[in-house]
Amino acid sequence: MHLSYLRLRDFRNYQQADQAFEPGFHLLLGQNAQGKTNVLEAIYLLATLRSFRGVGASQMVRHGAKGLFVGAELRGQQRCRIRYYWSSQQRRLSVDQEPVKRLEDYLGLLRAVVFCTEDLQLIKGSPKGRRRFMDLLLAQTEPTYLHSLQQYVRLLRSRNALLKQARVDAGSLEAFTSQLVLHGQSLIDARVRLIPRLAPLAQAAYRRIAPDAETLSMEYAPSAREDFASELRRVAIREKMVKSTLIGPHRDDCLFKLNNQFVCDYGSEGQKRSVAIALKMAQAELLTHQMGVPPILLIDDVMGELDRQRRSGLLPLLERAHHANGQVFMTCTEENWPRELGRRLYRWHVQSGQLSKGH
Ligand SMILES: Nc1ncnc2c1ncn2[C@@H]1O[C@H](COP(=O)(O)OP(=O)(O)OP(=O)(O)O)[C@@H](O)[C@H]1O
Ligand SMILES: [Mg+2]
Repeated sequence: MHLSYLRLRDFRNYQQADQAFEPGFHLLLGQNAQGKTNVLEAIYLLATLRSFRGVGASQMVRHGAKGLFVGAELRGQQRCRIRYYWSSQQRRLSVDQEPVKRLEDYLGLLRAVVFCTEDLQLIKGSPKGRRRFMDLLLAQTEPTYLHSLQQYVRLLRSRNALLKQARVDAGSLEAFTSQLVLHGQSLIDARVRLIPRLAPLAQAAYRRIAPDAETLSMEYAPSAREDFASELRRVAIREKMVKSTLIGPHRDDCLFKLNNQFVCDYGSEGQKRSVAIALKMAQAELLTHQMGVPPILLIDDVMGELDRQRRSGLLPLLERAHHANGQVFMTCTEENWPRELGRRLYRWHVQSGQLSKGH
């Protein structure tokens, strides 16, 4: 599958852009602050309805405009058109002119994996980013995951609101708790299944990019370690005191170790960066295995930051995307584009929110 057409209106510094893309390797070249990363952000937005820079949609609306529009045509076994409009008043998402009613039917249509500097936060940042990583990957691969997640979030909000009341009605609390456990358990089960599938891929990827032969391991760290329902009962009194749900998938984490030492505590900056990239490579490979087609790879400047060894470790993934008729979009400044990718390359010049074909 590939993105054969991209249309932007009032997206970041693009007033309008309309561009067709072939399958293959696309290099977005330009000086700083011209709009290279913005193109990747637009594609990622269509894939996930979020920004990988962790900002809300309002920031992506071009200054002075009312709303943004991103549209795309996808071609694979079938051809489809996605249109997404967002303004503070209105949000419209359609596939082939049909409004999307359920998000779970939409996510997974366009699968993309992004490599960007923010990835380092997966290792250094709070557990929230790691939960989001697991959630996105599961939403992209397991048809029922997103539904359970949405239900869980809704129930969690209601249960927390109930716990904040002066007198907590025991019957209502019990009802919310049993529903929360039901949906929460399916999230936990899916995460438990995910990690052993992801970990060997991450370990192999790490071996390819890191100079030393340390062993990377991953562990799921659920906040409910044994039985979710009975652990919730155990903290019932404390929950009433702090007025919030203390245990559940919203408190889970995922831990990374190199040679059995926690990367976040003991790893060097370089090791943390390599683990983050390995994790993203594993995500791309898992999606490829599971779906039979590679996701679109969006690579923001990382190659420029990487030393030779790490760069060459990333190349097999890019080669594979090539062979499978996939697509890679990569941003670089003119100076540091990876010349080892010399073949079959489309070059684009990005200047002041304009995209033009290079030579
Ligand atoms: N909402 C917005 N409206 C208009 N312009 C915006 C908006 N958000 C960001 N910009 C502009 O977009 C430009 C940055 O685009 P982008 O992040 O794609 O740069 P880049 O080409 O990737 O640069 P670098 O090489 O430094 O990473 C800046 O000029 C910024 O002012
Ligand atoms: Mg950039």
